[in-house]
Amino acid sequence: MGVIHPLPTRPKRILLPARSIQSRVAELGREIARDFRGEPVCLVGVLTGAVVFLSDLIRHIDTPVEIDFVAASSYGEATHSSGEVRIIKDVSHALRDKHVLIVEDIIDTGLTLRYLMETFSARQPASLDCCVLLDKPARRVAEVPVKYRGFEIEDCFVVGYGLDYRGFYRNLPYISELDA
Ligand code: IMP
Ligand code: MG
Repeated sequence: MGVIHPLPTRPKRILLPARSIQSRVAELGREIARDFRGEPVCLVGVLTGAVVFLSDLIRHIDTPVEIDFVAASSYGEATHSSGEVRIIKDVSHALRDKHVLIVEDIIDTGLTLRYLMETFSARQPASLDCCVLLDKPARRVAEVPVKYRGFEIEDCFVVGYGLDYRGFYRNLPYISELDA
């Protein structure tokens, strides 16, 4: 018999069904393609949560894209931010003179994206913008200009479509509130 890994809690209310996410992601991809007008853009996904979003998003951008990843940490294993941001894995590409679009699963306090925006802007990209799937404005501490936003959501802890609770639930095709 294999080892059983009991999950701490179960997702309860579905906030965003898969179909709604898919159609909004397609719209965002078309918007990005239109705005960059054929100029190459480097999408930097924030690991690990943005992986699902980024991989769907790029298939709706019909202009030249590169992808890269950065890993940042502010949450640890809790559902509340510690306020401390660290880069755990940096991008592989040089960002200088590139159009850079940071792709993030969710903006909550804004501390992660503010830190990444400040860090990357020092590398002198041609342009630097953010694209987030979810915006949770209730707990915002740092104001960050977000150019592309999928959905605004209420102040609750969500999982699915890349977002996790202690590493689980990223594989859900929908976004659900966690019964924590
Ligand atoms: P911020 O720095 O507070 O804006 O938090 C950004 C990071 O916190 C995201 O990249 C997520 O990893 C995590 N996070 C914030 N809210 C949630 C949530 O509701 N579910 C899962 N992860 C979240
Ligand atoms: Mg994240």
